[in-house]
Amino acid sequence: GSTTRYEAETSPAVCTGTIDANWSGYSGSGFCNGDNAAGAYAQFTVNASTAGTATVSVRFANGTTTDRHADLVVNGSTVQTVSFPGTGAWSTWGIKTATISLAAGSNTIRLNPTTTGGLANIDYLDV
Ligand code: GCU
Ligand code: CA
Repeated sequence: GSTTRYEAETSPAVCTGTIDANWSGYSGSGFCNGDNAAGAYAQFTVNASTAGTATVSVRFANGTTTDRHADLVVNGSTVQTVSFPGTGAWSTWGIKTATISLAAGSNTIRLNPTTTGGLANIDYLDV
């Protein structure tokens, strides 16, 4: 089916860090550069017309050679841990997908890093 794009820089999304635009290739007007701290998250509010499973695609960049890990927290519950591997450069973006369950109506999807390495840079979610 069709997907909706939720940009990290667009309210009501929340970025515990800064919205940056210094690395090229992002969609919209920037990306979430989370603070390099555990729990410095990117959060999105996603609408689902009906309850059920959905594919979430996360566009990210990780210019390091070390995977960054984040809990995927849906409506307050951690449903899985996602790894964001190195993409070769901060200006090279990749997509990570996950299948999750959504409620009908408004849902919060949070990427919550588990280590002091923090998040990969996060551009958007497609849901
Ligand atoms: C660099 C880079 C940031 C990135 C950060 C990090 O500072 O410019 O975009 O978020 O590294 O390691 O998280
Ligand atoms: Ca960062």
